[in-house]
Amino acid sequence: MKNKSTMDELRRLFMELYDNEKAWDHLVGILERNRHERRASLKKLDEERRGEGAWFRSHQLLGMMLYTENFGGDLRGVRKRLPYLEELGVNYLHLMPLLDSPEGKSDGGYSVSDFHRVRPDLGTMEDLEDLAEECHGKGMVLCIDFVLNHVSDEHVWAREARKGDPTAMSRFFMYDNWEIPRQYEQTVPQVFPATAPGNFTWYGDVCKVVMTTFHPYQWDLNYANPMVFNDMTDQLLYLANRGMDVIRLDAIPYLWKALGTSCRNLPQVHTLIRMMHLACEIVCPGVALLGEVVMEPRQVMPYFGSAEDPECDILYNVTTMCTTWHTLATRDVRLLQHQMGQVAGLGKEGFFQNYLRCHDDIGWGLDFPFLGQFFMGEVSHKKFLNDWLTGNWYGSPARGEVYNDDAFLGDARLCGTTASLCGIESALAAGDEGTRDLEKAIRCDLMLHAWMLAQSGIPVIYSGDEVGQLNDYSYHEDPARSSDSRYLHRGAFDWEMAARRKEKGTPAWKIFRGIRRLARLRSRTPVFAAEARMSVEDLWESRVMGIRREHEGETFLGVFNFSDSDAGAHLPEGRWKNMLTGKPVRLTPDGWLPMKGYGFFWLIRMDRN
Ligand code: GLC
Repeated sequence: MKNKSTMDELRRLFMELYDNEKAWDHLVGILERNRHERRASLKKLDEERRGEGAWFRSHQLLGMMLYTENFGGDLRGVRKRLPYLEELGVNYLHLMPLLDSPEGKSDGGYSVSDFHRVRPDLGTMEDLEDLAEECHGKGMVLCIDFVLNHVSDEHVWAREARKGDPTAMSRFFMYDNWEIPRQYEQTVPQVFPATAPGNFTWYGDVCKVVMTTFHPYQWDLNYANPMVFNDMTDQLLYLANRGMDVIRLDAIPYLWKALGTSCRNLPQVHTLIRMMHLACEIVCPGVALLGEVVMEPRQVMPYFGSAEDPECDILYNVTTMCTTWHTLATRDVRLLQHQMGQVAGLGKEGFFQNYLRCHDDIGWGLDFPFLGQFFMGEVSHKKFLNDWLTGNWYGSPARGEVYNDDAFLGDARLCGTTASLCGIESALAAGDEGTRDLEKAIRCDLMLHAWMLAQSGIPVIYSGDEVGQLNDYSYHEDPARSSDSRYLHRGAFDWEMAARRKEKGTPAWKIFRGIRRLARLRSRTPVFAAEARMSVEDLWESRVMGIRREHEGETFLGVFNFSDSDAGAHLPEGRWKNMLTGKPVRLTPDGWLPMKGYGFFWLIRMDRN
């Protein structure tokens, strides 16, 4: 087998963790089989990408994440609608979970009962492969989720375990009584304190208490058992071999459990992810791993690993995302400046996927010690943010809903679409009286997208946001969903609204056109390359965020007014041109750049420095 040193490294880590020769031989067999099964066309792609370096770092990538059923009905429907995505410039498509998962206890697809089967109402594995092929033909890449912390209680392993099969049971955490579970509960926090409290569930059929960190029907896998690692790596490679380009590793901080700890971010998790990366290097080197680590910044960064020993190739920029919403609510850019300073200081090691909204809630993983300097306490500030973004604050136009509001912890999170959170929904509801507010809300929506698109990394739009889709309140009527407010922003794609992107003057027209224009500029202008030097620019106005990018003699300045009122920004030295109009910027006689509420500028320096 090729890749000797990669194999050596994998073996070293595997033995360090498991010290089990038989299990190692089994893993080698899995790698060989998957390598053998990888199609020639995919191997060719691997080769091409090897030459390109980190292909996913291209600033020409524009992502969209969507639910197959919401957007196209099924996989064939998505295939038919690819031209719509191309019209916007999307060339990186993230399909939300689509593998088989039981209706009513699927957690939006994050509860997989068969890794080799697509949910029947969405199509078949062949449909997925066809879609991947079509995407590749169009120069698009495809990403899907790999849910690896847990399986559904209807997955064959769980079914066997529920019959008392000892081998199957050894894949999970199962206890005769509550003694050990109770010990765990003393140190392990809860993921869904209000909707799924506790980390264990009693299963009467087998008379065991089972570890279920997420929902009661999601059984945590026990990675201390090498068979679990081997078989899950096999599933990962199986998906890669279906033609996926990026694999999203779901909820990775939770993978390793140990009594007396928080069962989050334990050192063994890093070994597991590193080993999965090595397995991909051996079988499918063209595939990139996207890690989902929804934690505070100091917990996120280690998941990149190091330049020599990479773990995740891409991580969600969760801190910038929630800091962005904090900035909108507070109209104060200090925390965002601090956060971006840290991102800018990252250099080549870290590469992010940027986003405003995704399928999940906005969790307030902010840098609270930093905010403490300004006397913002954690509980009170979270309450303020939730009040503001749900429109329960004087003057706030936002329409969101809280998520997992735990009265004891004061730790609620937030749901809603970008458009509704920006005030488009409330302005539309006000009819004629809301006309001016609507203009402002659309400006806010575009300003936030411009802010996201100015950052380094892969910008990923949440489906519907490109036409200003509003919240969907229908989940309140559905008993299977009504307790989970994340469905507020998981509504069916509004194709009627999307059709209005062609009607001049409508919100959909303005937003779609605005985003497309910015995305094109981004993809055509080298200053947006990942290699550009990025820094925070203080513009002498606490409501206005400035970001500078420098690359190959070109300098870009992004200026974003996070408040709803007019403001002025003090530009740094130089002559600046507005990238969108091509015209030089006009400053006031005393040197300020006047800005509308929620206005933004993308500027390029005309005189080379
Ligand atoms: C991830 C998903 C989330 C899901 C959870 C459990 O965090 O993003 O939607 O509920 O994993 O699988």
